[in-house]
Amino acid sequence: MQESGSEKIIGYTVGENTSDRFTFVVSDVSEVSKWEYVFAEIGKRKVIGRIERVVSRSDLLNQDMDFLSVSKYVETELADHVFLCQAKSLGSVEGDALLLSRKIIPPGSPVMRASQRLLEDHLSYPGERSLNIGHLVDRNDVRVSVDINGLKRHLAILAQTGAGKSNAAAVLMEELLKKGASIIVLDPHADYALMRTGKNGARYAADIRIFRTPLSSGRYNAQTSSLSSLFTLRFQDLEADEISDIMGIKEEWSTLRRIVDDICRSMKPPRDLASFLSAYRELKGEDSSKISGRIRILGKIGSIFSDNTTPMEEYLAPGQLSILDLSGMDQALANYFAHRVLNTIYEAKVEGSGGFPVFVFVEEAHNFVPPGSRALIAQMLRKVASEGRKFGMFLVVISQRPGKLDQDVLSQCNSSIILRITNPLDQKAIMESSESMSESMLQDLPSLNIGEAVLTGEFVKIPVIATIRKRETAEGGGDVDLLSLLEEARKLRDRRRDPAEFRKALKENW
Ligand SMILES: Nc1ncnc2c1ncn2[C@@H]1O[C@H](COP(=O)(O)OP(=O)(O)OP(=O)(O)O)[C@@H](O)[C@H]1O
Ligand SMILES: [Mg+2]
Repeated sequence: MQESGSEKIIGYTVGENTSDRFTFVVSDVSEVSKWEYVFAEIGKRKVIGRIERVVSRSDLLNQDMDFLSVSKYVETELADHVFLCQAKSLGSVEGDALLLSRKIIPPGSPVMRASQRLLEDHLSYPGERSLNIGHLVDRNDVRVSVDINGLKRHLAILAQTGAGKSNAAAVLMEELLKKGASIIVLDPHADYALMRTGKNGARYAADIRIFRTPLSSGRYNAQTSSLSSLFTLRFQDLEADEISDIMGIKEEWSTLRRIVDDICRSMKPPRDLASFLSAYRELKGEDSSKISGRIRILGKIGSIFSDNTTPMEEYLAPGQLSILDLSGMDQALANYFAHRVLNTIYEAKVEGSGGFPVFVFVEEAHNFVPPGSRALIAQMLRKVASEGRKFGMFLVVISQRPGKLDQDVLSQCNSSIILRITNPLDQKAIMESSESMSESMLQDLPSLNIGEAVLTGEFVKIPVIATIRKRETAEGGGDVDLLSLLEEARKLRDRRRDPAEFRKALKENW
């Protein structure tokens, strides 16, 4: 194999080439794979490209031939074929920068595998700016980092279920935490509720706080639950509208909202939940039966009320990661909690208190801000998406249904991490919202493995396909381990079938 400079030549450009695509023939197909990075040398210039297709082609053994003729050629070892790689040009190396090249790549140009150094120079950022999130797909030696400055205009993490969204989000939280960022996480499935713990069981970082409510259904054990804090509300602090929100009464249900107003007006001190319920019992006529279902909901969630409302200083502090575990709540209640927290922070930011930047991670964002939703949390998220950066509030929206996420919010996200997505409607939503997403990258989305992601937008120098590293912190939700659950189920079934166990159970029950 020949060498050019110190690099090994793996192929030569052939056939028709343009400034943004080139095709090259290789002698050893085992040296190349799809998505690999190479460069073509044109005089002193290097044009970096990413392989988008590897094909084998034979002019002799063409599709018009029948089986017998082909087998004869194969037996005589006359079969000819070539391996061709088609690469998309990512830019021409000009000093430290990678610039769009308009110069045509001539045939016969040598093509080399891009070295670790060449790639890291163009795929990573230096020190303070860089968040190290993984490595290039198929190139463990090439670190990929993203630019913290690129998060100024928000980020979307999108993928179908199980593709690695929560892992990617946790990796970003870990990296941001190392940089001293303040982070708030809206966590409807307690995916991040164990983040205080590192992989080896030791405490991960001092500044991580988990807030749960008495309704939380996250997988806490005695130890993790004692390390978390309760997020509570003081009933007396609530306006009538907020009580309606908590009861899941929509904005447009004006009669029910009016009844809640009436109850609030007739409430006697101390104006707590008990006062509210006794004022309800005094209601006369139809109003009482109309609101009774909603009152039952309030009764069920009564444990969230306490003597004080958790103050902002508890969950917002420089360099602190605060996970708000919203599990066990219905969407209306989760919306209320989420809105209460974000609104408090937003108002503080607008007033100028708390000069440090705040990153807000929103899991299952399509549930908080579906298209056209008038819910307060949806309005708040739209406001943060369009104006938050002026006040130092930055969004990271996470969703498995980008097609069901408000497109205004999605299109304000100038950077994206997109993992495996097979649903065409979701792919279309991504294409429409992301200017830097090329058609060919979109075609790659269904073939990504777990943890592999297309990174595009302001936080990368060029769009890149990376393998996101595994999170350093413990997983909260994650995938269920079906095998061990079935093992448990079999044990239970066998116990029920065992006559001795059956007699024991009978005795216990009588
Ligand atoms: N980069 C990765 N490297 C190794 N394992 C990963 C990676 N990303 C995810 N996984 C594993 O794959 C599983 C699913 O990941 P994760 O929970 O992040 O997916 P998700 O997209 O958030 O799923 P869901 O839609 O259910 O919330 C987890 O068990 C996780 O540990
Ligand atoms: Mg998840």
